[in-house]
Amino acid sequence: MAKRAYPLSKVYGLLEPGPVVLLTTRHRGRANVMPMSWHTMMEFEPPLVGCIVSGRNFSFEALTATRQCVLNIPTAELAAQVVGCGNVCGRRVDKFARFALTQAPAATVDAPLIAECYANLECTVADTRLMNRYNFFVLEVKKAWIDPACKAPRTLHHRGRGVFMVAGETITLPSRKK
Ligand SMILES: Cc1cc2nc3c(=O)[nH]c(=O)nc-3n(C[C@H](O)[C@H](O)[C@H](O)COP(=O)(O)O)c2cc1C
Repeated sequence: MAKRAYPLSKVYGLLEPGPVVLLTTRHRGRANVMPMSWHTMMEFEPPLVGCIVSGRNFSFEALTATRQCVLNIPTAELAAQVVGCGNVCGRRVDKFARFALTQAPAATVDAPLIAECYANLECTVADTRLMNRYNFFVLEVKKAWIDPACKAPRTLHHRGRGVFMVAGETITLPSRKK
């Protein structure tokens, strides 16, 4: 099989596991939404999630100041809002209003849930030791919500530069319990 060299600048698109999430925060009176695909599971229970939030983003300021957020998981029906929220900054734009997303109160944090997302993970910041070096935050999930009616969520998986895969076929194989 003939392979060709692949640009290092595109490598992330091969590895990104997805799904794209919408990180919500509430800071200085503004509820905000940031699409994020650079995240990774780090522990089963309590669930720990590592993620990269660029220091240029309003969400970085909100996360460092409040140490709270919600990871909302959208399905393909919200694709246009996801990309829209990624092209504007919450410092200047009320993204909930502009993209017709609905805030719902969380149980354990001040940041809002997005009602239209099929799952919502309420998180606090557990570790910032890699924040200065890599903008890497470790989040602990304190409370998780799911829509039981959504059996096969068509989640979005970012391939880079506006290209997404939509989750489709599900297969179940024998595996150890956990
Ligand atoms: C699909 C997608 C994935 C993204 N992933 C990330 C990410 O993992 N980390 C990040 O800092 N920004 C990511 N971005 C860019 C931010 O969402 C974008 O800069 C946003 O406007 C920041 O908003 P804020 O300034 O209101 O926080 C992504 C954007 C899109 C559309």
